[in-house]
Amino acid sequence: MAKLISGKEVSSKVKAEVREETAELVKKGIKPGLAVVIVGNDPASRVYVNSKKKACEEVGFSSFEYALPEETTQEELLELVSKLNNDDSVDGILCQLPLPEQIDENAVINAIKPDKDVDAFHPFNVGKIMIGDFAFLPCTPAGVMELIDSTGVDISGKSCVVIGRSNIVGKPMSMLLLHRNGTVTICHSRTKNLAEICRNADILVAAVGKANFVTADMVKDGAIVIDVGMNRLENGKLCGDVDFENVEKKAGYITPVPGGVGPMTIAMLMKNTLTAAKMHNNLI
Ligand code: GUN
Repeated sequence: MAKLISGKEVSSKVKAEVREETAELVKKGIKPGLAVVIVGNDPASRVYVNSKKKACEEVGFSSFEYALPEETTQEELLELVSKLNNDDSVDGILCQLPLPEQIDENAVINAIKPDKDVDAFHPFNVGKIMIGDFAFLPCTPAGVMELIDSTGVDISGKSCVVIGRSNIVGKPMSMLLLHRNGTVTICHSRTKNLAEICRNADILVAAVGKANFVTADMVKDGAIVIDVGMNRLENGKLCGDVDFENVEKKAGYITPVPGGVGPMTIAMLMKNTLTAAKMHNNLI
């Protein structure tokens, strides 16, 4: 039976560290600030944004919410981003994705000043991640690394398989594992022999977006299985990409959904916002 990796526990530790460092900054008159922009009425986005604001309160940051209507134009959003870029009380800017279809997501990401890009989505920061010299962590992949590290297993030389090649998760995830000397395979919708490749993984990261995609026959005995999936079932239940009930019997370690990767993403966002505040005050 797999050991459960608790994202709640690991994220609490990360947030406690951020809170301590923030208290020291506040003594010097520096209060980190995060601007969260949400456009439209996507219910999942609303839940994420509320969690991000709550985390800001927990660690002692200022948070500024900008909730714009569904019909907001690209020009209007770019104008807000420009205003936030020039506002010294704002250290980090987060535009919750997805954006409504009339807005070009890339144009918005490219408009955020790289030193306020706490999602690490701007091409400048993506490039830094690629070469392994980065200040901002890609939040979800960095959260996954913390979860793997919490097991005490050394990544170096391990066979690591990432299912999914998105810019937000799959690609940066693969880079972080590679920087730690994992032997990384990226699988995607066109991959042949997916089950066989997964069965070879000492560390398996699922970021597919399909409920119960990873079944027990795809998992090596004793593997670390990390589930990045967040799928809403018809009955309203939240469920990951991994068939938890059966994979749990085979894996060495496994993350639950909810309570696994989700809380980590937010904790790493807090860490990035703290980093941004330190950068803006010449402390790093
Ligand atoms: N939508 C889903 N995940 C994320 C994330 O990590 N950052 C932003 N900005 N939007 C998202």
